[in-house]
Amino acid sequence: MAVLDIALMGDPILACEALPVEDPGDGAVVRLVADMVETMLAAGGVGLAAPQVRHRARLVIFQLPPGRSADGRGVPLTVLINPRIEPLTDDMDPAYEACLSVPGLTGVVPRWRRIGYRAWDLDGRLVEREAEGLHARVVQHECDHLSGLLYLSRMQDLSSLAMTAELHRQAALRAKENT
Ligand code: NI
Repeated sequence: MAVLDIALMGDPILACEALPVEDPGDGAVVRLVADMVETMLAAGGVGLAAPQVRHRARLVIFQLPPGRSADGRGVPLTVLINPRIEPLTDDMDPAYEACLSVPGLTGVVPRWRRIGYRAWDLDGRLVEREAEGLHARVVQHECDHLSGLLYLSRMQDLSSLAMTAELHRQAALRAKENT
């Protein structure tokens, strides 16, 4: 396994439409997923899409630690091959997002509150789930990478775009004022 280089905003690979994975169980796909997992964990991210490591494949991975999903149980490491998303509501939730390909920045992005998604895993089994909250957000964010979209292009109001470190500094200042 290897930690791969992550493509940064401006790299044309991030603007490409990814191509369907023909054989989910193929050895090259299994190795790519193993490398993506190591890369995501090394970078401290919760999700990663294949184009971010310069593979034009419709493949994403993600995991949510316990306490960050709606039911508090988290979502174990999940591999989605050729995923499809369908909104289960018209409701959109705004929340801050960040991306390993856009280091240092964060901004508010509206996402569908509830979605259904289906995809194949590495064993060729169908993964079919409903998701809400952060789980739904992460899946929408990662699958956008497969359409060549970064979260910035989903933002409706660029005034929320900020340096993450500065937001943390501001929050610390406010906390100090309130003590
Ligand atoms: Ni991203």
